[in-house]
Amino acid sequence: MIVLLYRIPKFRICNVNEAAPPVLIPEADIARRIDELAKQISADYQDKGDLVLIGVLKGAFIFLADLSRRLTIPRTIEFIAVSSYEKSDVPSGAVRLVMDVRGNIEGRHVLIVEDIVDTGRTLEYLIGMLESHGPASIRTCALLHKPESATVDVDIDYVGFGIGGEWVVGYGLDYAEHNRTLPYIGKIKPAD
Ligand code: PRP
Repeated sequence: MIVLLYRIPKFRICNVNEAAPPVLIPEADIARRIDELAKQISADYQDKGDLVLIGVLKGAFIFLADLSRRLTIPRTIEFIAVSSYEKSDVPSGAVRLVMDVRGNIEGRHVLIVEDIVDTGRTLEYLIGMLESHGPASIRTCALLHKPESATVDVDIDYVGFGIGGEWVVGYGLDYAEHNRTLPYIGKIKPAD
């Protein structure tokens, strides 16, 4: 007998041995909000020419893929990788560049795409670092924002959802590399 594993709910989760965390933001709400963000960004950059989207690895890879495909303006894709947290519950505060963008962003409009802004330190670091490449402009976009966790003042031009202090996974976000490919935002731990 052939069993279609993907038809069994539990097997929709990539890591099949993990229990599915409770839903904080359903898949359909994420899709709807990304549609709205894409419309707004497309309108804002309508007359500005090519937009360079810079996805922050690893967490932003799914958000960037979905957002970029919904834009109706010319765009190119870059990635950057930083390491901001030690592998523990406590943010170290240190941000380290692991991989720079490949393309030249001098004179071009840049949109940094993040999965989540927590303390804001990563985004603050990235804005300062990318400014040194001489872009025409830099704006920021984050699917999730934890305003109560901010330790630095950083502007986010496009925000998907504001959330509380809870720990979240899915749609690119992980906890110790687990649950990144969950199709929704799940809650794994309440706010401290
Ligand atoms: C997460 C997230 C952001 C950063 C935000 O990355 O993707 O880049 O933390 O935190 P902050 O606002 O407190 O600086 P993480 O270091 O977990 O790496 P990952 O994206 O590779 O999972």
